[in-house]
Amino acid sequence: MSDPPTQQSQTAWWETAVVYQVYIRSFADGDGDGLGDLVGLRKRLPYLASLGVDALWINPWYPSPMADAGYDVADYRDIEPAFGTLAQAEELIDDIHASGMKVLLDIVPNHTSSQHLWFQAALAGDETARARYIFRPGQGSDGELPPNDWHSVFGGPAWTRVTTAEGTPGDWYLHLFAPGQPDLDWSHREVVDEFEDVLRFWFDRGIDGFRIDVAHGLSKADGLPDAGLREVGSLHTEPHPAWDQEGVHEIYRGWRRVADSYDPPRIFVAEAWVPSNERLAKYLRSDELHTAFQFDLLRAPWRASSMRDVIDDAVAAADSVGAASTWVLSNHDVVRHATRYARSQPPHLVESAWDRSRWGVESPDLELGTRRARAAALLTLALPGVGYLYQGEELALYEVEDIPSALRQDPTWVQSGYTDPGRDGCRVPLPWSGEEPPFDFSPSGASAQPWLPQPAEWASLTQQAQEKDPTSTLSLYRSALRLRGELWEGLTAPQWIESRDDVLAFRRGAVECWMNTGPDELPLPTRQVLLASQPLTDSGALPADTAVWLVSA
Ligand code: GLC
Repeated sequence: MSDPPTQQSQTAWWETAVVYQVYIRSFADGDGDGLGDLVGLRKRLPYLASLGVDALWINPWYPSPMADAGYDVADYRDIEPAFGTLAQAEELIDDIHASGMKVLLDIVPNHTSSQHLWFQAALAGDETARARYIFRPGQGSDGELPPNDWHSVFGGPAWTRVTTAEGTPGDWYLHLFAPGQPDLDWSHREVVDEFEDVLRFWFDRGIDGFRIDVAHGLSKADGLPDAGLREVGSLHTEPHPAWDQEGVHEIYRGWRRVADSYDPPRIFVAEAWVPSNERLAKYLRSDELHTAFQFDLLRAPWRASSMRDVIDDAVAAADSVGAASTWVLSNHDVVRHATRYARSQPPHLVESAWDRSRWGVESPDLELGTRRARAAALLTLALPGVGYLYQGEELALYEVEDIPSALRQDPTWVQSGYTDPGRDGCRVPLPWSGEEPPFDFSPSGASAQPWLPQPAEWASLTQQAQEKDPTSTLSLYRSALRLRGELWEGLTAPQWIESRDDVLAFRRGAVECWMNTGPDELPLPTRQVLLASQPLTDSGALPADTAVWLVSA
């Protein structure tokens, strides 16, 4: 048993919120071009408000050539024309607030788009602009080799060579992601000042905070040393000179000062893939960022013991700096969890590329995956701290594995040399209603198809189909979100209840959460059942792959 729970008396909204991730290009299309947009999102706000989430996180909506679905930003102070206008964005922010929700935007500070004015000026030979990026001469007698051995996260070298004004091969620039995403040099004061100003631009428009893209990438090790054997596949698990360097913390102390200068103070959530929770906790010190995604639960296999270890470690680390844990099961970068849980489970934590390597090797059992996904939702919503939902998980959407190659858009597909299909499968536009694609994603009569094809089988998973079915996953989420507010709020640590190895059970305050990840049913103590992810057996036992919330005796 762990220590008795400690109840913090007062929590801020962002310490216990449920935040819904709006992947804007796939949420709702208002103008019929097959791409989600601001008008579509605005129309669906009543749905989000009635779902019971506290806040929205909207993926990048800035002007972008879309080399990486908007994570290549050409102008940080405007809206991508395909999504709408700045005036519409301002109205939307007001409407979200009027609907009782907060709104977080996504800031992309590690790199700009290669179409950003700064980079264009750098390419044209402007030395001041060039100094804001990471240009280096190549190695080899003619500089024909990249400056170091770093690899892009999407595959291939992290360097691209430019051509000089005279038309000869020139220096190389660093891009930890796509060539269209040149990395900024954060040791340059102008870069620091520019982003603090961008923060203010949006804070002044009333947004409540930012999700920070690649928060662990901004500072690079001095001299950009080779990574050696660690270069591939080590992004999250081992130290690397491109990631998680001490210099990032000074940047975030500056950002915190900006956020704290507002009333009410604005907040941050970091996307920081770092090797340990101890490293993650550094981002959460009281003068840095408020929250950071806890990605280990998202990587954990369907195994009670793995999940319990992950939860214990995460809660202890967050606690060590007085921060709230931030749970997430899916997002726009990883295989949807209904699919992750639909295949045999390994003993280790799982990366999405590994998950995707099993496509075509083992068929997914989606009924099983969905059953487990429903249970996992009850688990995460019962944990202390913040919960992030990725759009469509409340509809039990699964990964679309059979997108035709010619339609794939994620740069991972091309940069991996067509070996990794990439992240499109979790980004397929939402099904809202109707019997066939586009399932009301686009308005009726729209000429364009959704930007990625939707499976015909999603007819049974539309919002409309699930709305009136009390057994649907949407109904489960609605009930869970309503009850969470009443039962599980606060930061009380989970107090484990000893049970079988394949069972995860804990108490927080007067409520218990039991989850059975094994094949055999589990007799439960006699308690009042508040919510279950599947019906219990006739004798009141917890079936396989099911979670339940109970009132303690
Ligand atoms: C983050 C985003 C991902 C993007 C990458 C580069 O990991 O979540 O979608 O490709 O950063 O900006």
